[in-house]
Amino acid sequence: MQAKIEYLGHSCFLLETGETKVLFDPFITGNPKAKDIDIHNIKADLILVTHGHGDHTQDLLAIAKENNALVISNYEITNWVTDKGHSKIFGMNYGGSKTFRDVRVKMVNALHSSSLPDGTYGGNPAGFLVFFGDKTLYYAGDTALHYDMKLIGDHENVDLALLPMGDVFTMNYTDACLAADFVKAKSIVGMHFDTFPPIEIDHDAAKSHFQSNGKSLILPKRREIITI
Ligand code: NI
Ligand code: MN
Repeated sequence: MQAKIEYLGHSCFLLETGETKVLFDPFITGNPKAKDIDIHNIKADLILVTHGHGDHTQDLLAIAKENNALVISNYEITNWVTDKGHSKIFGMNYGGSKTFRDVRVKMVNALHSSSLPDGTYGGNPAGFLVFFGDKTLYYAGDTALHYDMKLIGDHENVDLALLPMGDVFTMNYTDACLAADFVKAKSIVGMHFDTFPPIEIDHDAAKSHFQSNGKSLILPKRREIITI
């Protein structure tokens, strides 16, 4: 089975499995580099949210309400979503998994922080393993490199890893290259880079670093569609 995943800037992606549209960490209207994307044109059945920071949740409520989408995140963030008037939620925690339509979602840990834009406690930051058809996708969220990623590589068969690599707030591309080793990813896509000046990266240097480690790195352009 082939699925496609479209890059909507920063760490926001839209996965289409055939049966289900899965949106990750919606942040578009505040992204200076995504002015060409109209959130009212985004269709989503499931919205996965890794943590509470504004650059991952800014457009969450608007898109969730407009699409009557199921919001999947940690318990604290889904409670916040309910408080904000959207009750179609599913709260989970580390190690837990659940199947929604043709997609199984497992919440894994990330090494970061989590608070919501209004100061509400946002629980613990997460990443997600997403299983559909015969494919496995690892969406790391915002995270530093950590050794638990090895567990994923040892026990899952990761086709595509989406890894932050803008440095400063997350790991950089050299650590992301180690993360790709740990999770044994067949394909690697970068995210959380270039959106703002502090996380601008040298694309050629990043790609050649991966190449010298026997890997190829995709640094997607906005609206770029990757097939897996
Ligand atoms: Ni963050
Ligand atoms: Mn972030």
